[in-house]
Amino acid sequence: MVLNSLKHPSNWRVADLERDQRWIFRIDAGTRQEMIDAVLKAEDPNKSLLDYRRADFALSKTLVTLGAALEEVKRGLGVALIKGLPRQELTAKQFEILTWSLGLYSGVPRPQGKDTHYISAVKDAGMTYRTGTGRGYSSSAELDFHTDSSDVVFLSCFNQAVSGGKTIVSSSMAGHDAMAREYPEQLKWLYEPLAFSRQGEGAPDEGPYVMQPVFSQQQGKWFGRWNWNRVRSAQKIEGAPQLCAEQYAALEQFDQIVRRPDIAFEMWLEAGDVQIVNSHVTLHSRTEFQDHEDPALKRLLYRLWIAPPDSDVLPECWRDLYRACEAGSVRGGIRGFSYDERCAQFEARQAQDCAMRDAAAH
Ligand SMILES: [Fe+2]
Repeated sequence: MVLNSLKHPSNWRVADLERDQRWIFRIDAGTRQEMIDAVLKAEDPNKSLLDYRRADFALSKTLVTLGAALEEVKRGLGVALIKGLPRQELTAKQFEILTWSLGLYSGVPRPQGKDTHYISAVKDAGMTYRTGTGRGYSSSAELDFHTDSSDVVFLSCFNQAVSGGKTIVSSSMAGHDAMAREYPEQLKWLYEPLAFSRQGEGAPDEGPYVMQPVFSQQQGKWFGRWNWNRVRSAQKIEGAPQLCAEQYAALEQFDQIVRRPDIAFEMWLEAGDVQIVNSHVTLHSRTEFQDHEDPALKRLLYRLWIAPPDSDVLPECWRDLYRACEAGSVRGGIRGFSYDERCAQFEARQAQDCAMRDAAAH
């Protein structure tokens, strides 16, 4: 079944985001002060992130803005930007805790890779992106357009790079529609399952790759997943289904389309900004960057993956990657190799705080 052009705010073009900036939220001085007070009061050097609960953070004004931004992310454009978080007033650790508090009020944070971190410091750690186990967030390289492995992604900025490191977002539906219009004969390949590598980060009970189409449908809603790097990487995994030439060409076409200047929206994440995206409708990328020499000034972002309580049911082909498809379930993330009882307890407790299905059930 071929998807008809979707009339939905998430099917935007660059001109739409420029014209209507309802997706940009600027917080006022009172809200900023509330964030500072909440973090300074809650911060406890004896606690790890998993020990905090949402009730530890006395936030109210903040939640109004966060709620409006999340609404835009989940049911609107699929992208939001909150500007003006307290950056100068907080240390990097405190800024990380602030980011974490926003996550605790948004759903259940998800683990993010082989070390099972629930928040990732996005910085250049010298990793090579284009290898079978490479991850872009630890490199300074330009990234392919992709979706992360969770329903909602938060990216908060503590330090910008010297130059480069621009964030880019594209509507996956806009890419789909351009393909349908200009290359209809290639469109069918976007509905065919293909192998995405787990980049060597699968949990012990998970295979080295998952099979999913770029677009799939459930209950009238469409879900997109894309990551050329992981698809290429899966081609080198023994036993993974190989792409035929026609399929490869169609995927390359799609990847080129979502980079077009009328589809790919470029923005600077400034210190104190937090970007939030809906992975199912938004692709993201980043340009290569040149970093500061001084370690204290180096580009530093915090990434958070969230399973929100009001998520839609996912198509069954997402189960292998997300471990659950049910609406409002604790799903997504990359468990990695250090997922233990403590992680399970944190997720169950947080699910309870969010009135969600118990993580232990998955
Ligand atoms: Fe990403």
